[in-house]
Amino acid sequence: MKFFIDTANLEQIKEAQALGILDGVTTNPSLMAKEGIKGEDNVKKHYQAICEIVDGDVSAEVIATDFDGMVKEGEALAQLHEQIVVKIPMIKDGVKALKYFSEKGIKTNCTLVFSAGQALLAAKAGATYVSPFIGRLDDISTDGLNLISEIRHIYDNYGFETEILAASVRHTMHVIDCAKIGADVMTGPLSSIEGLLKHPLTDIGLEKFLADHKKNQ
Ligand code: E4P
Repeated sequence: MKFFIDTANLEQIKEAQALGILDGVTTNPSLMAKEGIKGEDNVKKHYQAICEIVDGDVSAEVIATDFDGMVKEGEALAQLHEQIVVKIPMIKDGVKALKYFSEKGIKTNCTLVFSAGQALLAAKAGATYVSPFIGRLDDISTDGLNLISEIRHIYDNYGFETEILAASVRHTMHVIDCAKIGADVMTGPLSSIEGLLKHPLTDIGLEKFLADHKKNQ
């Protein structure tokens, strides 16, 4: 399972990268706004800065919602760095844009996916990644993890190569459950990754080992 971090915060990206287990980064316009990144040039520079920190794929989202606009924006984003993956919303023109980029060999991430039908379309259009938003489904009392299972089942039925990128991951149990189901990738906050480290018995055990070692000196 690949681990992506879902942030545009450079310090958090550096921290996750330093752990040695980071495979990529996802961003979205809200995450860019949270970091105060405004204006086309600054946005582009920020994506480049992220690419300099990590070794893997970095999703950069288009703002346009029409086919021509998405193609123009996506091509400019893809030219910024070889690690850039063009993030396209699951709308009608988005499906056309996914197909266009897939034929050109440009990697894509189909975002804002909330149903198995949308995921099926994204795979048919040749998306590199499909991003079902599990946390936002949970927020409206719908089972986000069930959507990951459905998509896994459908993709395995037909051998689709589109990778299931479990998005809107909110906590560590989401990560573990996605791994059990067989999501290819998860993207979440640093806390969801660091939570995997923690177990009270590890802390208690380590404290005892160190105390016994000290007594023995
Ligand atoms: C995915 O690529 C999105 O950036 C993200 O996971 C959305 O998560 P949220 O629902 O926590 O905003």
